[in-house]
Amino acid sequence: MKLGVFDSGLGGLLIAKAIRTAMPDIDMLYAGDTLHLPYGNRSPEAIYTYTRQAMDYLFYNDCALIVVACNTASAGALRRLQQEYLPQSPYKDRRILGVVVPTLECAAEQGRRNLGLLATNHTVRTNIYGEELSKIDPAIQLTQINAPLLVPMIENDGVQWIVPVLEHYLKPLKTNGVDSVILGCTHYSLIKNQIQNFMGPEVTLLSQDEIIPPKVEDYLKRHPEIARQIGRSGAQDFAVSDVTDAYSKTAAQIYGEPIPLRKADFFDIPKHKVTA
Ligand code: DGL
Repeated sequence: MKLGVFDSGLGGLLIAKAIRTAMPDIDMLYAGDTLHLPYGNRSPEAIYTYTRQAMDYLFYNDCALIVVACNTASAGALRRLQQEYLPQSPYKDRRILGVVVPTLECAAEQGRRNLGLLATNHTVRTNIYGEELSKIDPAIQLTQINAPLLVPMIENDGVQWIVPVLEHYLKPLKTNGVDSVILGCTHYSLIKNQIQNFMGPEVTLLSQDEIIPPKVEDYLKRHPEIARQIGRSGAQDFAVSDVTDAYSKTAAQIYGEPIPLRKADFFDIPKHKVTA
């Protein structure tokens, strides 16, 4: 079986690559819903439906564990997937992990007291970071900023114009004196330098491509029943719901090497049928 990594598009390839670097032999299937990207401004119901379809696709294609690398999907769909979808599906013994709780755990472990969060509209609207933080340590402060322009700018080759937009979004975090900024969207790791330059060297960036791989390794150590199902032949497969030349170029840039993007239909998976 495989480790599945899901994102609304290609940004999650950064996390997939970091997982591969940490565990070079792990068999991995990446699913990016490029047909419906970006999720950030969509309705909660659409985000849930698209994410559930991608879960069906990944489980049907033999994933024992799925990492939902997308913050927007983690915020909008993860709880429902874990509490409603999984127990009623034929995949009861498989698992889905998100990125929100591991990121906040990492912030708490590092002793951060005053967090800033940069994320999509949807992620901020759900207040998932606020809710989960109150369970981990309610004394840690959190300032949330929704930054809807960043993903379209990164996706459309607009990084050269990003500085004034970033300054607009980051100014309240600076005013609040945050000690760290959570990059709460897969794409933001690609503009780490610009964010660090504005926030200054004393502010730590919490970037999920650094946080998630050790958390997945730790999860697999604590769950040998899942770990032993995942193959270790180093296979990797990249399925996306729409392919264009531009996507292939972006994927190579993000992954750091050319990768074959395969077009897959996430939405035509026979319901409740498990592969042998
Ligand atoms: N992957 C999404 C996230 O991490 C960002 C892109 C989108 O809006 O779909 O929130």
